[in-house]
Amino acid sequence: MTKTSRNNLQLAIDGPAGAGKSTVAQMVAHELGMFYLDTGAMYRVISYKVLKNRVLPEDELAVTKIAQETEIAFDHSNRDIVLCDGEIVSNQIRTPEVSRTVSIVAAYAGVREQLVKSQRLEAAKGNVVMDGRDIGTFVLPDADIKIFLTASTEERATRRLQEIKATGIDTTYQEVLKDMKNRDRSDSEREHSPLRPAEDSIIIDTTQLSIEEVVKKIVSLVLNTRNAK
Ligand code: DC
Repeated sequence: MTKTSRNNLQLAIDGPAGAGKSTVAQMVAHELGMFYLDTGAMYRVISYKVLKNRVLPEDELAVTKIAQETEIAFDHSNRDIVLCDGEIVSNQIRTPEVSRTVSIVAAYAGVREQLVKSQRLEAAKGNVVMDGRDIGTFVLPDADIKIFLTASTEERATRRLQEIKATGIDTTYQEVLKDMKNRDRSDSEREHSPLRPAEDSIIIDTTQLSIEEVVKKIVSLVLNTRNAK
C-alpha cells in the first residue's frame, strides 16, 4: 500500500546493534501515541527456541519449521514483555548465546519470509514505529519516514554491555565487542535483506548524542510529516 492510499503513519528505524534503536523507538512511540514493534526481538525469539529445542542453528529446514510454528507476542501494556508460545522470554532472548545464534537464524530466507509477513500485518493496524535492519529497505519500503541510526562500534558495545548487565547476566566488554563485530559482519554481508540504509533514509549518528536529543530530532521529523500528510 502506498503512502497516500493508507491513512496510518509508519516510521521505520534501522541500524546496527547498539545504535539505540529500540530505546529511541520506544520513546518516540510513547511520546506520539504510536504502537512500537521490535522486530529484532522476533528473530531473537526464534533463536531462543532453536537453542531451547536443541536444534542445530545450521539446520536451515528445522529452524525454518520452528519459525513457522512459533507464536510470538508482545504485551503492549508492559513495554518489555515478549512471549514465545505464551511463555515470557523477555530476558532469555537477550543472553549472549541467543545474540550469537540470532545472526545465523536471521539469515534464512524462510525465517525472514515468515516474520516479515507478521510484521507487515502488524504495521497495517495503526500508527507504527518499527525498528530492525530491513524495515526501510524491505519490510515497509513505503514508510513515511525512514531513519538509519548508527554509532561507533566501541560506543555501541559499551551501550550493549550496560543493557546486558542490567538483566543480571555476567559478560565482559571484550566479549560484547567481539560479538558485535561478528554480528555487524553477518547482518551486512548476508544475501537476504542485508543491513544498509534505504536510499531515502535520514542517517543519524548517535555517538555524540544523548537519547533525548535523538528522540527530539525524530519526534520533530514525524510531526512535520504528520502535519503534511
Ligand atoms: O536489534 P537486535 O540486536 O535485537 O536484533 C537481533 C538480530 O536480528 C540481529 O542480529 C539482526 C537480526 N534482525 C534482522 O535481521 N532483521 C530485523 N528486521 C531485525 C533484526
